[in-house]
Amino acid sequence: MKDSHGRVIDYLRISLTDRCNFRCVYCMPESGVCSMGHDEILRIEEIERLVRVAAGLGIRSVRLTGGEPLVRKGVVDLVGAITAIDGIENVSMTTNGVLLPAMVDDLRAAGLSRVNISLDTLDPDQFRAITRVGRLEDTLAGIDAALEAGLAPVKVNAVTVRSLNQDFLAFAKLSIDRLLHVRFIEYMPVGNAEGEGGTGWGKADVIPSEELCELISAQAAAAGLPALVPASKSSKPVGWGPARYFEFPGAAGTVGFISPLSRHFCSECNRLRVTADGKVRPCLFSDHELDVREALRNGDDEVVRAVLLEALGAKPDEHHDKVGTERNMSQIGG
Ligand code: GTP
Ligand code: 5AD
Ligand code: SF4
Repeated sequence: MKDSHGRVIDYLRISLTDRCNFRCVYCMPESGVCSMGHDEILRIEEIERLVRVAAGLGIRSVRLTGGEPLVRKGVVDLVGAITAIDGIENVSMTTNGVLLPAMVDDLRAAGLSRVNISLDTLDPDQFRAITRVGRLEDTLAGIDAALEAGLAPVKVNAVTVRSLNQDFLAFAKLSIDRLLHVRFIEYMPVGNAEGEGGTGWGKADVIPSEELCELISAQAAAAGLPALVPASKSSKPVGWGPARYFEFPGAAGTVGFISPLSRHFCSECNRLRVTADGKVRPCLFSDHELDVREALRNGDDEVVRAVLLEALGAKPDEHHDKVGTERNMSQIGG
């Protein structure tokens, strides 16, 4: 399936719920967000049907996101159902990890390929401040559980925010002894970014990946460690996303950078997104959405296919540094 800019679209990101057991400062406003109603969100069978139609159009990889996908009832059954769909090669999840210790064996048995776990700091107090309610040890236990269950490659996503003063070297060092792929993500202006009730995003908080890579290498040198070098082909983890990977020579894992702002990857965009309430978003940064829920509830597969193709045709060439979206990240799923 190719869009009007010649890009192959084979990756579908589906938000299963806008609810979350955390309240991360860069993702949700302090006042919280009104959750969607029960009838508004796609039912598990509707998501399964959507993926079947999408697979018929050429979707090969599906990522389940949130909010927190593991708080959605029926998530294990959904993983089982969509991994069994012809054409789907890879079903992955982006989670904060808290529920992984309890669920990872069932998810693995259902066919989940791998997980990306969000973690922004290794300091327990800072962790509490960023997530507003979470405990560092819970997410660390989730990472251990994913590694033990063999859900490889296990990636750790850290959103970088200048005013938070995170310890980036400590983070990058996680990749040395264990087969972990640590990825630093530039803070994106999603939601009512700079406005009232927003996340407080400002340009000054964005740390361009190149600056961060140099900073980590300088801190590593001061600590007697080698500098980061581009990751070799064999050490790069499997993925469908936009990260660029580096490694400390001899390390078990890698250090990746996701640079949607300083070096946007729109020309390589390979994805469509679906929100929990069944809207297809051609682009993360655009509020243009198409209603696939209506098609799933009142139309046959041909109608669903037509909505997906319309979304494909509506993909813009790039995000043109747009700031702010009507929805928060917790509703779009990253
Ligand atoms: P893999 O590389 O396949 O493991 O996955 P991924 O990096 O696509 O998934 P993940 O959910 O871990 O996303 C990591 C970060 O990249 C999140 O902050 C996403 O919002 C961001 N991201 C993923 N896709 C896009 C995109 O199309 N545009 C922008 N601007 N950011 C994206
Ligand atoms: N900018 C960058 N990344 C973000 N995420 C959530 N909000 C933002 C933001 N404003 C990350 C989460 C998760 C991924 C899906 O998106 O930490 O890892
Ligand atoms: Fe929840 Fe993820 Fe948003 Fe944090 S970033 S509040 S873990 S959805």
